[in-house]
Amino acid sequence: MNNKLMVVFLSALVMCFFFSSPTWAVDKEKALNFFKEKKCTKCHSMKTEGIVGQKAESGDDDDGAKKPPDLSKLSDETMKEADPKTFLKKFLTQQIKRGNKKHRKKLDDDGDLDTLIDYFMSPKK
Ligand code: HEC
Repeated sequence: MNNKLMVVFLSALVMCFFFSSPTWAVDKEKALNFFKEKKCTKCHSMKTEGIVGQKAESGDDDDGAKKPPDLSKLSDETMKEADPKTFLKKFLTQQIKRGNKKHRKKLDDDGDLDTLIDYFMSPKK
């Protein structure tokens, strides 16, 4: 590769980084659509979005199991994981348990799960 080509190549690379930065932001709309589509709202609230889960506000489950948490903010328990993102992905796809319990709903690991987890991890107002 000659020098001129190299310069063109490098500028193109820099431009790519520069112009692609908005795509690093979380696709909130996609995440929330997925969240509703998969009926996560049957259990979970997302108060920052005005979503109230159908089970979230009711008392403990009959068997004394944990209530579904509001997902506006992830629990300290989750954030203490060495890698919260990987933990959530495995937990939600039921590859791992927490406190000897699987997540109540099994999710498929398709593309939008990553988007949703990125959204969970992102700071919210
Ligand atoms: C049948 C009720 C139910 C449904 C439906 C459900 N969940 Fe949950 N979810 C729970 C319960 C209960 C917990 C708490 C489990 C725990 O902490 O061990 C939980 C925990 C979580 C957590 C961990 C939160 C934290 O930081 O501790 C995430 C993330 C989550 N659910 C996402 C989802 C998503 C995404 C969906 C939709 C695909 C969904 N859930 C559907 C009951 C449900």
